[in-house]
Amino acid sequence: MLAQCEDEGRGLSGRLAPLGHRLSFTIDAESEISGAPTELQSAMSNLLSNAIRYTPGGGEVAVSWRVLPDGRGEYAVRDTGPGIAAEHIPRLTERFYRIDRSRSRETGGTGLGLAIVKHIAQRHGTELRIESNVGKGSRFALVFPAARVREARVLVK
Ligand SMILES: Nc1ncnc2c1ncn2[C@@H]1O[C@H](COP(=O)(O)OP(=O)(O)OP(=O)(O)O)[C@@H](O)[C@H]1O
Ligand SMILES: [Mg+2]
Repeated sequence: MLAQCEDEGRGLSGRLAPLGHRLSFTIDAESEISGAPTELQSAMSNLLSNAIRYTPGGGEVAVSWRVLPDGRGEYAVRDTGPGIAAEHIPRLTERFYRIDRSRSRETGGTGLGLAIVKHIAQRHGTELRIESNVGKGSRFALVFPAARVREARVLVK
């Protein structure tokens, strides 16, 4: 799933920014997640495409998967984009909610991406965490319950 994110992410970054972005993809522990694969892929890709769309070219986007000490699994996308003011954060997963129109016009989204991510997360008993600092960047994470995560025995490198 991360490999597919990487393919899409590199393609999108190359199309949107002549400089591209500094992209990194890190897997701490090869794992299996139980759930609907196409939905999970869509949620993961959505968070990555937002990070790439809203981060100016040359910025950094770091994608990671890790298993936390308590067995939960965390997929995280961190960017060095414009960040999101605290008052917007609770509303981001509302349908059609977008932060500012000038930013929106450039990128042409509909404001549905995070509503879909939230819906998929809920169907998988998964938490969507959003942290952001204006001017510094944002971090979006999906935290999967331990019951849905299994570390794979064979480590593929
Ligand atoms: N990584 C990010 N950095 C800064 N702002 C973000 C980031 N991700 C989302 N946003 C803000 O949150 C708003 C809602 O995001 P969401 O993905 O739901 O919709 P969208 O990207 O505008 O459109 P769509 O995903 O439907 O194409 C965006 O319009 C943008 O203003
Ligand atoms: Mg979006």
